[in-house]
Amino acid sequence: MNWTESTRQKMLNLQLPTDPRWVNIAEMNIEDILVDHAYCEQKAASSCISMIVQFNDFEQLVAELTPVVAEEWGHFERVLEQLNKRGFKLGKPRRDEYVIKLKDFVKKGGDRIQQVTEHLMMNALVEARSCERFKLLSQNIEDKELKVFYYELMISEAGHYVNFLELARSIGGKEKINERWKEWLQYEAGIISNLEIRGDRMH
Ligand SMILES: [Fe+2]
Ligand SMILES: [Fe+2]
Repeated sequence: MNWTESTRQKMLNLQLPTDPRWVNIAEMNIEDILVDHAYCEQKAASSCISMIVQFNDFEQLVAELTPVVAEEWGHFERVLEQLNKRGFKLGKPRRDEYVIKLKDFVKKGGDRIQQVTEHLMMNALVEARSCERFKLLSQNIEDKELKVFYYELMISEAGHYVNFLELARSIGGKEKINERWKEWLQYEAGIISNLEIRGDRMH
């Protein structure tokens, strides 16, 4: 999908922009950032697979998330290629404080529709924040190849963000989801404001 005005508008829904210091610290620790990023892509693919298995009774979800698994895994391969080119190793996954905190906000119980839409909104937020960070990287780092790389991924994750949120609206009803989405946005801003700025984390 194109990086359209409407997507740009929707991205601004994030309530708190990333601290501009992050991108400079990230650039100085690009090996750690690429390793963390590779695992973000792995988790994105794994999360889609889990949703397909857990919510197999939602046909639209199965149909729409199946190609996303392949896209996220393609992103993983591309990050791995960037690591290899620079002589870096994949290394171990790190504890993902951001996602752990987001998971805490998922409403427990409720009906299947509530469960599935909570998961979709959580995933939409991860995509939105990743997209914002990829944009910062593409605009601010010196490495020309990574600039293009992050620009392309930004567009792809923006598409996923819209997919997840629209799917939640389609399953849960627009009004209800829009109300809950506001709460998610507020909560996410709270996480971002309390997380330490680190150069070895994508989030
Ligand atoms: Fe991705
Ligand atoms: Fe994504």
